[in-house]
Amino acid sequence: MLIAQITDAHIVEKNRHYMADPATKIHERFFRVISYLNNLDPQPDLILFTGDTVDRGGGECYIQLKELLEPLRAPLYVIPGNHDVREEMRSAFYNQAYMPLSGFIQYAIEEHALRLIALDTLVQGQAYGMLCEERLAWIEKTLEQEPAKPTLLFMHHSPAKIGVSLFDAIHCKAPSQFEALVRNYKNIVGILAGHTHQGYVTSFGGKPCLIAPSIAPSHYIASSSDEQVSALELEDPAVSLHEWHEGTVMISHVRRIKEDYRRIDWAEITRAREAELLHVR
Ligand SMILES: [Fe+2]
Ligand SMILES: [Fe+2]
Repeated sequence: MLIAQITDAHIVEKNRHYMADPATKIHERFFRVISYLNNLDPQPDLILFTGDTVDRGGGECYIQLKELLEPLRAPLYVIPGNHDVREEMRSAFYNQAYMPLSGFIQYAIEEHALRLIALDTLVQGQAYGMLCEERLAWIEKTLEQEPAKPTLLFMHHSPAKIGVSLFDAIHCKAPSQFEALVRNYKNIVGILAGHTHQGYVTSFGGKPCLIAPSIAPSHYIASSSDEQVSALELEDPAVSLHEWHEGTVMISHVRRIKEDYRRIDWAEITRAREAELLHVR
């Protein structure tokens, strides 16, 4: 079972630029990622979009996002990040069977070998995330329904800190009860998150916590104790691929999609090498 994770696209309105800088090429980066995903063979069983799908609400960002997502082939599941507006996201994806009609955008995906549980950590208007009592009660009830099936949690804000002051101040404020659930449910195989725009591998409740790098540019923070971002880093957009391997282990890797990304067919390489050998003889 192959899961593709994309995160933090920060789509802006048509004719606008992320951080008001044309060099960020935010729509072109997203298009590049969609093309890469569509060319994967075999196709991922599903694509998880772990929040900050758009940069801001109140405008036409979700219309632009939907337009850019249109060609995507594999089934897509979205959850909100702090830049999303929950009700605008719900309206944009209202026709998806998994999308709850009201309340938090949290749901379980049951039809695969690995059960996936989407958590909504958004506190509207705040950069930090939270799992309040209501959300925690839902998580507990959902975990109780399938206590033996291997389960992966995905959320925007990581509940684990990463040792960078700026991000640790806006991580997911989760009560110790959440950590106990993750620790005690032996069938939880890990947590996927986004939000920091850089990739980190850490742990939470004794389980792997994988924080995926972003589609949007990342923030350069010179020192882990800095309170300010020093620069915007124009790295290539990332796609994280998680393979649930033989029903026992998750193997994850990250692909950076270069602007001139392409594959050279191996038959072409072989022909060129043979021609070169003939020439040398
Ligand atoms: Fe973000
Ligand atoms: Fe975020």
